[in-house]
Amino acid sequence: MSSTSGQFRKVTTKTFTLMKQKGIKISALTAYDFITAKLLDSAGIDLLLVGDSLGNVFQGNETTLPVTMDEMIYHTKAVSKGVQRAMVITDMPFMSYQLSVDEAFRNAGRIMKETPAGGVKIEGGKRVAETVRKITEAGIPVMGHIGLTPQSIHQFGSYRERGTSQEEADEIISDAKILEEAGAFCIVLEKIPARLAQKVSESIEIPTIGIGAGPYCDGQILVTPDMLGLNKEFRPRFVRHYLTLADSIDTAIKQYISDIRAKEFPSESESY
Ligand code: KIV
Repeated sequence: MSSTSGQFRKVTTKTFTLMKQKGIKISALTAYDFITAKLLDSAGIDLLLVGDSLGNVFQGNETTLPVTMDEMIYHTKAVSKGVQRAMVITDMPFMSYQLSVDEAFRNAGRIMKETPAGGVKIEGGKRVAETVRKITEAGIPVMGHIGLTPQSIHQFGSYRERGTSQEEADEIISDAKILEEAGAFCIVLEKIPARLAQKVSESIEIPTIGIGAGPYCDGQILVTPDMLGLNKEFRPRFVRHYLTLADSIDTAIKQYISDIRAKEFPSESESY
């Protein structure tokens, strides 16, 4: 399989189905720009999500709610230019799919017509089932997203873990089955107990991609600037810092400033 042999073959929904069947874990990260997408893709990541988390980490907003369709399309075009192998999925932003099934269908179609994305992601379970069905029936792959769904932050009241009560856990299991039945090709499980995520993953055939959902999911996703340690203040339990890029950047920029002041940059060999 392409993801393990390193041989170039474009990742598709079929790849993910096969990976789950073979017990090969799926790796996913978010991307918002060309150069980062190029680096993540050439490192061998399976899936790149143009997440509406760009509202937080790129735009500096408190929530993902202000992100627009035009912005998602803009970032997806930039990301896609850097990608050869990974599957690119675009988040449908708040209010692009809630008004009606037809409006959601039109917006999913816009993403597929105006960008090279391989599919879209929609937050919610039962309440978006009809929408997921309509979009997938048109041949557009849909990734589900349940558990903590950031677009519902004002309803939840906080970013705390979901699925800790029996009622919430039952709803998450039921939503996963509904999304699978509606045609979703995989489901993001965000911030739910590891054993619940295991139960969900074992109860459906399509892969689950966890974020703060423990080790038993069929794959994992993180927000790239978080795992690269670009925001030192944001350190929830589920984020592992694979780099402390904020510190490296601080050191590099201070050195640059100091070199300029000391008239050590540029040198003769760096000049024409
Ligand atoms: O927008 C996003 O980055 C996401 C991931 C956290 C799954 O939805």
